[in-house]
Amino acid sequence: MSQPVSMSGPRPGRCRVCDADVVEFLDLGAQPLSDAFLTPKDIGHEFFYRLAVGRCTGCTMVQLMEEVPRERMFHAEYPYHSSGSSVMREHFAATARRFLDTELAGTEDPFVVELGCNDGVMLKTVHEAGVRHLGFEPSGSVGRLAAESGVRVREAFFEESSAADLRRREGAADVIYAANTLCHIPYMDSVLRGVDALLAADGVFVFEDPYLGDIVERTSFDQIYDEHFFFFTARSVRAMARRAGLELVGVERLPVHGGEVRYTLARAGSRQPSPAVAELLAEEEARGLADPRTLDAFAERVARHRDELVALLRRLRAEGRTVAAYGATAKSATVTNYCGIGTESVSFVSDSTPAKQDRLSPGMHLPVVPPEVFAKARPDYALLFAWNHAEEIMRKEEDFAREGGRWILYVPEVRVV
Ligand code: SAH
Ligand code: TYD
Ligand code: ZN
Repeated sequence: MSQPVSMSGPRPGRCRVCDADVVEFLDLGAQPLSDAFLTPKDIGHEFFYRLAVGRCTGCTMVQLMEEVPRERMFHAEYPYHSSGSSVMREHFAATARRFLDTELAGTEDPFVVELGCNDGVMLKTVHEAGVRHLGFEPSGSVGRLAAESGVRVREAFFEESSAADLRRREGAADVIYAANTLCHIPYMDSVLRGVDALLAADGVFVFEDPYLGDIVERTSFDQIYDEHFFFFTARSVRAMARRAGLELVGVERLPVHGGEVRYTLARAGSRQPSPAVAELLAEEEARGLADPRTLDAFAERVARHRDELVALLRRLRAEGRTVAAYGATAKSATVTNYCGIGTESVSFVSDSTPAKQDRLSPGMHLPVVPPEVFAKARPDYALLFAWNHAEEIMRKEEDFAREGGRWILYVPEVRVV
C-alpha cells in the first residue's frame, strides 16, 4: 500500500541541507532525550527515539537520521548551564573580547546577536562593555539566568521569522554568533534565511561546534545524541554556506569540548577567505573524512569501544570494586544507553548542576548526586562522563586520585588512569 506523500516538511533519509539521499552508517539504538533528568514519577513515561547517523550523498553533511521535535528538548526545564565549567567561562569571555577588540573595532554602534546564549556566558562580557546585543534562548530556565546578569534575551527559537522580526525592529547585526547551537538545529534552511535577513552587508556569522574530524579521530561517539543533529566539516559547511549566498572565510580549530571548529561565514565576495580554509579542506581530503569507508571504520571502532568498556565494568564488578561516574553530561545518555550501563555497574553520577541533582539519568536511571556525595563515598573507580573537562575535573578532585581512586576514560580509548 502506498503511503500518503506530504510535499511540505522534511522527508526521512533526505539531507536537511541539500535534500539529497542520506546513507546511514551507525545505529546507536533506542535512546531517551539526553537532557531529560527524571523524578521518580517520570519513570515509565520517557520519550525514546532511534539514534542513527548518516552521510549525505550530495553535500557530505553528516546528520541524524531522525529528528526530535525541538520543544521536547529546549523548554522551561532545560538543565544545561554553560557557566558550569571555569574553562568554558574563560573561553567565552575571550571570544567576546575578541569580537569587541577586533571584529567590531571601528564599527559605529555595533550589534551582536547570539543563538543559544544559554545563561549569558558569552554575552555577559558584551553587555558589560556597553555594546548593543540580543540573545535568542528558547529555554526559559537558562535564559532567565542570562537576563539576571543584565543580558538582553528573547525567549524564542532563532529561525527565519524571528530573525526577520528582529531586523525590522533593531536593524542589521554585525556579528551573529552561535556556540554549540547551530549543530542543534535541523531546520537549517530557515536559520540560513534568517541569517540572510539579519546580517549586515559586511557582517559575519560565526559558529563553533564539535568537529567531525575530532569525533572520528577520537572515536568520541558520545557526541552523537538528540541535540547534536549535524556534524560539520569545512567541506560540508562550505557547501551549506554557498547554498545560502554565504562564503566560508575562516576556520579555527578549538580545543574545547573534545575538539571543535569555529567557522566564519560572510556574504559571498565580501571578504577574502583566510588560507586556513584551504588548508583544512586539504587536510580533510587527505584524511578521507567524506569517504564512506572512513565512516564505516569509525562505526566499527564504536562497537569495539563499547565492548571494551562493558568488559572492563564487568571485570571490576566481579572483583568487588566500587564504581561511580562523574559528570551527568548529555553525552553520557548515549554511552549508558548504548552500552547498557545501569546501577549494577555504576552506583551514581556526581554533577555540580543543581537542576540535575537528586534526579535520575535518562534511560538507565543512575542517581545524580552533588560532588560532596562523591567525595564522601570514595569509590574505587570513577567513570569520567565529562571527559571533555578532564583537566578541570581531575584538578578539582585531586584528593580522589591521591587517596587511590582511579579514573576510567573511554575517549580516545578505554583505559584506566
Ligand atoms: N552557547 C552555549 C549553549 C549551548 S547549549 C554554550 O556553548 O555553552 C544549546 C542552546 O541552544 C540551548 O540553551 C538551547 O535552548 C538553545 N537553542 C536550541 N535551539 C535554538 C534556536 N533555534 N535558536 C536559539 N537557541 C536555540
Ligand atoms: P558538558 O560536557 O559541558 O556538556 P554535555 O551535557 O552537552 O555533554 O557537561 C558537563 C557536565 O559536567 C555538566 O552537567 C556539569 C558537570 N561538571 C561537574 O559536575 N563538575 C565540573 O567540574 C565540571 C567542569 C562539569
Ligand atoms: Zn546534503
